[in-house]
Amino acid sequence: MSVMINKRAVRVCLAPMAGFTDSAMRIISREWGADLTFTEMVSAKAVRYGDKKTLTLSRIDEREGDCILQLFGSEPDTLAYATEALLATAEIKPVGIDINMGCPVNKIFQNGEGSALTKNPSLIYDIVKSTRSATDLPLSVKMRLGVDDAHKNAVECALAAESAGADFITVHGRTRAQMYSGESDLLSIAEVKSALHIPLIASGDVVDGESALRILSRTGADAIMVGRAAIGNPFVFAEIKSALDGNAKSEITLETKMTTALRQLSLAIELKGEHTAVLESRKQLALYFKGMKGASALRGALNTATTYAEITELLSAIGE
Ligand SMILES: Cc1cc2nc3c(=O)[nH]c(=O)nc-3n(C[C@H](O)[C@H](O)[C@H](O)COP(=O)(O)O)c2cc1C
Repeated sequence: MSVMINKRAVRVCLAPMAGFTDSAMRIISREWGADLTFTEMVSAKAVRYGDKKTLTLSRIDEREGDCILQLFGSEPDTLAYATEALLATAEIKPVGIDINMGCPVNKIFQNGEGSALTKNPSLIYDIVKSTRSATDLPLSVKMRLGVDDAHKNAVECALAAESAGADFITVHGRTRAQMYSGESDLLSIAEVKSALHIPLIASGDVVDGESALRILSRTGADAIMVGRAAIGNPFVFAEIKSALDGNAKSEITLETKMTTALRQLSLAIELKGEHTAVLESRKQLALYFKGMKGASALRGALNTATTYAEITELLSAIGE
């Protein structure tokens, strides 16, 4: 079985990550081999209230290629409304809609959104059914294993989404209580995969070619998703693609890292303006040079940089 987007089978995707997966990161990830990307989660309620910042977050640049728009919310009609409203907006042309059922953050959880939805499989059914009626594009759900160890009900939740019309499901192999601790539970993801009749994407702890192959074979997943390991490291997609094709990984030179980091920053500047782009890039740029001579000094220095020129100056001090 395959996750099919625009008649192409997806093998590896960039995970949605709030505060990171903006258009610039998505463009770069696609250039390095991600078959599909996701926007960060966008509030369906905020769309309904016409919040301008939310519309900016939802924008998908035409250079991006295949990108899925992720929404969060708990009201079936609001999710359907947001789907229709965003799809009718010229600058927003996703190839699919994903609904967040995994976010563990307190504020979201206490609102009954994100991972709180796994407490209520019949609400999952209603949400997917309602959103399904708003679009013919591929529709998916991304969930965790459940709220905590005593409530690992991802199979039931995934089946509810499937029967309401979801086209595929992504499962992050942790409970809400785990946040990001421990390891992604591959056996539990495998249980969801064997219960479903639609494709499944495995999320959690895919960091390189070896982990990608292991997670695919242990879970039986149809595709994998890379989150944290892709921050400051879009090269991970090329490495995973090589591993999937049975090839060795290619070494990435310092020059390539430098050019790619600066290209990501330039794209972000073009899309958001220099000030915002530079401030937001601080947490990501240093990771491009992790483990290299001068990387920790760079991390500190980036925290005061406010212009592209200052950043190029700082990067010139990095050595192999
Ligand atoms: C900073 C950060 C932000 C995230 N934001 C989202 C989000 O907006 N929507 C979502 O479904 N998952 C979100 N996630 C979860 C990731 O998509 C992914 O499932 C999780 O990080 C596990 O994968 P990884 O081990 O490859 O990072 C976020 C994770 C991180 C670390």
